[in-house]
Amino acid sequence: MEYKELNSKNNIPALGFGTWQLKPIKEAYNSVASALEKGYRHIDTAHIYFNEGSVGKAVQDSKIKREDIFITTKLWNWDHKKVEEAYQKSLKKLKVDYIDLYLIHFPVSKTRIDAWKAMETIYKEKRVKSIGVSNFTIKHLEELMSKTDIVPAVNQVEFHPFLYQKDLLDFCNKHGIALEAYSPLSHGKRLDDHTLQDIASAHKKTVAQVMIRWSLQHGNIVIPKSRNPGRIKQNFEVFDFELSEIEMTSINSLNENYRTCWDPTDTV
Ligand code: A2P
Repeated sequence: MEYKELNSKNNIPALGFGTWQLKPIKEAYNSVASALEKGYRHIDTAHIYFNEGSVGKAVQDSKIKREDIFITTKLWNWDHKKVEEAYQKSLKKLKVDYIDLYLIHFPVSKTRIDAWKAMETIYKEKRVKSIGVSNFTIKHLEELMSKTDIVPAVNQVEFHPFLYQKDLLDFCNKHGIALEAYSPLSHGKRLDDHTLQDIASAHKKTVAQVMIRWSLQHGNIVIPKSRNPGRIKQNFEVFDFELSEIEMTSINSLNENYRTCWDPTDTV
């Protein structure tokens, strides 16, 4: 497993397990248990996924030491004015006494700056290891950095070959913000792409593995998800091959600004 150092000086496993749309209780519990068993040590959840309880139980039952698992959760939109309360609720559901990474889930207009300031307080009191944001555009990041003290440790956004957000990635690199790629498999929508299929066969890998590898080689933290034990395992086996510069460039050129999830670009 490769790790990446965040600007908070904490290390995050570069490959994590996403849990969006994994239903509580059984599906989320079984998937996270399976991921931990297969070697994942980074689990990404959110209040609005309604599966923090199942994630917490799977982590607890795994008997893996708390400090060996990296847990991310997120502040939902309706909690921007009660961050402390929301943080406590997440801790309780996850059955832990700190979160590794707490994110503002979406750049809600008007409330996001004060929400960030409340998260800064939790961070300064050392009750959370790192804080960051999700679905922020360059504009949102610039505003945040001009009005607050702490530069986000990460910006978690949709990022895959069909949504290669190069300008945002360059901006994040320049400011020491790690980019975390959600829906790195294009939410399963473009696994039949011929360019990716050819590159995958050349490496005796699957298209999903090539997509994950491409994102890792861009320096991203990547959080694929699956509810299938075979695919959970497959998505973890991405550290034994490397894409060439030519392959990287050819995958970069697949970009078509295709979003499978939210579009935050119009949020003022
Ligand atoms: P499943 O849960 O049945 O495996 P993303 O992480 O980009 O949002 O993609 C998630 C989607 O991709 C899910 O529908 C998931 O379905 C599917 N998926 C996850 N891993 C693989 C894989 N290795 N091969 C094919 N489909 C996958």
